[in-house]
Amino acid sequence: MKFNCKDIENRVNIPKHIAIIMDGNGRWAKKRLLPRVAGHVRGVKRVKEIVEYCAKIGVTYLTLFAFGRENWRRPADEVTFLMKLLYEQLDKEFIKLHEQGVKIRFIGDKSRLRPEIRDKIIKLETITINNTRLNLNIALDYSGTYDITQAVNKILAQKITSITEEDFSKYLLTYPDVEPELLIRTGGESRLSNFMLWQVAYSECYFTNTFWPDFKIKDLDLAIKWFNTKERRFGMISEQLE
Ligand code: IPE
Ligand code: IPE
Ligand code: MG
Repeated sequence: MKFNCKDIENRVNIPKHIAIIMDGNGRWAKKRLLPRVAGHVRGVKRVKEIVEYCAKIGVTYLTLFAFGRENWRRPADEVTFLMKLLYEQLDKEFIKLHEQGVKIRFIGDKSRLRPEIRDKIIKLETITINNTRLNLNIALDYSGTYDITQAVNKILAQKITSITEEDFSKYLLTYPDVEPELLIRTGGESRLSNFMLWQVAYSECYFTNTFWPDFKIKDLDLAIKWFNTKERRFGMISEQLE
């Protein structure tokens, strides 16, 4: 299923916010007898396609899990490679996204990144801040528990002693984005791996065996099509939604 302007007119429900756990790069490479890092390189290609496509079909927010806090535990050479790969993209590819009107934000702990990466991502956030076409969040040194903890610490620093759920969410790193309607995880695992715990409370969760380097536009279309079959009841019953 491909979406075009007519589909959008016909009210195919394009989720406002899609979040993706991009998993399976290493296994994609292993299957081809390639080093794990070859999977990461191919994965970058998919990121570009998916971001451009989401902008085209009118997704408002896209959050991509690029590097989790737990991923620092990987072998040092893989971590170094991933950071180098990111650094290279920051120059050419992300500037292209800026030219396409994408607003880029990095969510996570910026303090542990190498200074040259930190400087570049802050610069990118600054230059794209007024863009309106697609809000792209790249989760980098991010975890759901980190997000909640940093929110609590901000609240404590303001000496607030009681808070509503609605106000709490204003301290999360994803604020002011709406919560993801659709969460996708590629690579065959059906776990959240500490991604966006608060925000996915009512997301539709789509798990696919496809490895991220194989996840093409047609696969995203399938996920959106699946999303369109879901009745989102939020605790109510069908009859109340008619
Ligand atoms: C996801 O793919 C990419 C990152 C976590 C950076 P993996 O590297 O986890 O791939 P698998 O799960 O080992 O196949
Ligand atoms: C989750 O993938 C993190 C990212 C996709 C960036 P992992 O491959 O690290 O997750 P686990 O450790 O297998 O759960
Ligand atoms: Mg993995």
